[in-house]
Amino acid sequence: MALYSEKVMEHFRHPRNVGVIENADGIGEVGNAKCGDIMKIYLKIEDGIIEDAKFETFGCASAIASSSMATELIKGKPVSEASALTNKAVAEALDGLPAHKVHCSVLAEEAIKKALQDYYGKLSEGV
Ligand code: FES
Repeated sequence: MALYSEKVMEHFRHPRNVGVIENADGIGEVGNAKCGDIMKIYLKIEDGIIEDAKFETFGCASAIASSSMATELIKGKPVSEASALTNKAVAEALDGLPAHKVHCSVLAEEAIKKALQDYYGKLSEGV
């Protein structure tokens, strides 16, 4: 059996939403101390809707595929839906991840949550 699903390989080879959003409304950066991978997610939010999401990921194939899929899943969605996105949903959308690679999808969930925290923080500061 192949290590990765075709969908993982497809998103790894042709990742969606790679890059930076200038003046992003929310930025979330997380890392995994064990593997050293780092993921940064940028969100553009208007009227409570994720207008755009981009990422920079320095990591393994499934971390890149997870970032790509996670940003696709939240684009156009209300922030409430984005904050409820689980790593399980990301992994399922990728047709599964090998057990030792599940933490890569956790990074995507955490990075989005952190970016949303940043967004809410800025809102309360009135920035
Ligand atoms: Fe750690 Fe993929 S091996 S994020």
